[in-house]
Amino acid sequence: MELGDFVEDVARGAGRILMRSFHEVKSWRTKDGRGDVVTAVDEESERYIIGRIRQEFPSDRILSEESGVSGSGQGRTWIVDPLDGTRNYVMGVPFFCVSIGITEGGAPVLGAVYDPVHDEMFFAGRGGGAFLNGERIEVSDEDTLDDSVISVSWVKRRADRRRFVTYIEELSRDTSFFRRFGSAALVTAYVACGRVHAFMQGGLNPWDVAAGIVVVEEAGGVVTDFTGKPIDLTDKDIDILAANPTLHQILLERVIKRPQV
Ligand code: IPD
Ligand code: CA
Ligand code: CA
Repeated sequence: MELGDFVEDVARGAGRILMRSFHEVKSWRTKDGRGDVVTAVDEESERYIIGRIRQEFPSDRILSEESGVSGSGQGRTWIVDPLDGTRNYVMGVPFFCVSIGITEGGAPVLGAVYDPVHDEMFFAGRGGGAFLNGERIEVSDEDTLDDSVISVSWVKRRADRRRFVTYIEELSRDTSFFRRFGSAALVTAYVACGRVHAFMQGGLNPWDVAAGIVVVEEAGGVVTDFTGKPIDLTDKDIDILAANPTLHQILLERVIKRPQV
């Protein structure tokens, strides 16, 4: 099996695990003060994904949300979120996904974001284009904020809250179409296919964004941190701005106001 097919197959298998218990799991544990939660299904999905990867690629390095790093492989790293959108999941909101990314030399090269509720597989391999269920996808060509649908989100921290209230105030001069979806990986994939014009969030982890970066970039979009630099996937406090090139520039310059260097 080709690597891409294997990744899709694993994501679909994990998606089946999520669907089996959707609407049944209604309790969660809080992991930290930032609002992150986890359930037994996150862990079951993760065991499945890691088991499949280990069987096929025993020495690859894996970074996964619930169990951290395993394997010492120098080349490829798998970055796994076994259930992105846990809070939606436990509330019965059908917006969550499985996210599996692969990096080489620290750079994201392949990503699969799978929404099992709608059976939608967003996939991209570096240089090969981005796809939704096998059909080519592209970011929107929206070029003003006025009609833009923008997903804005942040984690539960005082400093972030202040920052993001300022961003919302700036944005609200032009648009009122804000969204807060509750699954960073899936909304990133939505930017890739033009369902959402832009996504900005602070305080994310590598597993929330690794797969989505490749999908958006291969769909013709731009993904950076809030200073306009490529996202550092070794960071555990990631700011992400994903959009088509025009909106990305507008958001960076007018809303986030990149410090002049
Ligand atoms: C969370 C979701 C959510 C984002 C949080 C993430 P999880 O991931 O992506 O949209 O706001 O910061 O932690 O915990 O559901 O995998
Ligand atoms: Ca997540
Ligand atoms: Ca998760």
